[in-house]
Amino acid sequence: MSTAPSTVPVAGTGPRFSVAPMMDWTDRHCRAFLRCFSPRALLYTEMITAAAILRGDRARLLQFSPEEQPVALQLGGSSPAELALAARVGEEAGYQEINLNCGCPSDRVSSGAFGACLMEEPARVAECVAAMRAVVGVPVTVKMRIGVVNRQRDGGHDARAAMLRFDEADYARLSEFTRQILAAGCATLIVHARKAVLGGLSPHENRTVPPLRFDVVRRLREEFPGVPLSVNGGIRTAEAAVEAVQWCDSVMIGREAYHRPYLLAALQAALYPADHWAAPSPAEVLDRMGEYAARELAAGERLSNITRHMLGLVTHTAGARDYRRLMAEGARSRSAGPELLAQARALLLQGAA
Ligand SMILES: Cc1cc2nc3c(=O)[nH]c(=O)nc-3n(C[C@H](O)[C@H](O)[C@H](O)COP(=O)(O)O)c2cc1C
Repeated sequence: MSTAPSTVPVAGTGPRFSVAPMMDWTDRHCRAFLRCFSPRALLYTEMITAAAILRGDRARLLQFSPEEQPVALQLGGSSPAELALAARVGEEAGYQEINLNCGCPSDRVSSGAFGACLMEEPARVAECVAAMRAVVGVPVTVKMRIGVVNRQRDGGHDARAAMLRFDEADYARLSEFTRQILAAGCATLIVHARKAVLGGLSPHENRTVPPLRFDVVRRLREEFPGVPLSVNGGIRTAEAAVEAVQWCDSVMIGREAYHRPYLLAALQAALYPADHWAAPSPAEVLDRMGEYAARELAAGERLSNITRHMLGLVTHTAGARDYRRLMAEGARSRSAGPELLAQARALLLQGAA
């Protein structure tokens, strides 16, 4: 775990760090696990479409345990009326923030006219934000990119050049998008500091290939100084997070929090030193998750749906490989029960002896 630098920013009112919405990853079991590492991190759901909430199995989609709080619901959609209804359902379910996804570039999402392609339609996004704001009391926020490149429209070669550059025209679009959503009532800007490429890049490439431009987000901060701003993209250490919150309000962490959850404990210590919070040991986390799993299995859940998120509990320590094998393979057996977590605990203690 990294040691945190001593400079901590002046306390703002909102959360100082969060775990990003990640499809297939940040489901409720993942959030219950990640909560063990920090009481303060704001945890986002995976993106759930407004249509799914309105027409699907709403209770299952929105279910969460009280110990996951604070949790924010990320919605996907582009219909103001549907988003407003879904936001209200989300608030009633107990979510503490409603977030609109304007950053996800996957083809499937773009073809449904939501996600990053909405950055090209600021007026529509503003309408969506205003419609949600009108019906909920919790903050409505937007997760966005610094811009979008449309490969089909711009052609392959030009699209590559457009992906790599960030010029005044790009900034003018970003600024106008921001101005409109703020005027509509967006409470926090959450900015993934790279462009999204629509068409041609996989979702994975879209999180790695377009260059990270924190300088652009800093410029946005200077233009809109009073607005809560969270920066996202490529933050992997407590040091990097502390550095970022010198100029913005909070950091959002995605992949690194999932693969190395003790980073959240390091962030908790670095960003909330006055809490004097002691991170639980891996054995303590397994105890807590054992109780959680017993409850969930009694309600009909499968163990592997919980343990699949727990592989990053130990990384380079003795027994880590055996631990991961047990959690990944052992949990798949139909008869696997919560005692598997006690077995994993014994394995780790044995490795440490
Ligand atoms: C597996 C996976 C699924 C993701 N799903 C979503 C999503 O549902 N909504 C969203 O806004 N971003 C999604 N993202 C993007 C992340 O929220 C985040 O913006 C991105 O990973 C960059 O942050 P990082 O470098 O800290 O991982 C996803 C990322 C990953 C790795």
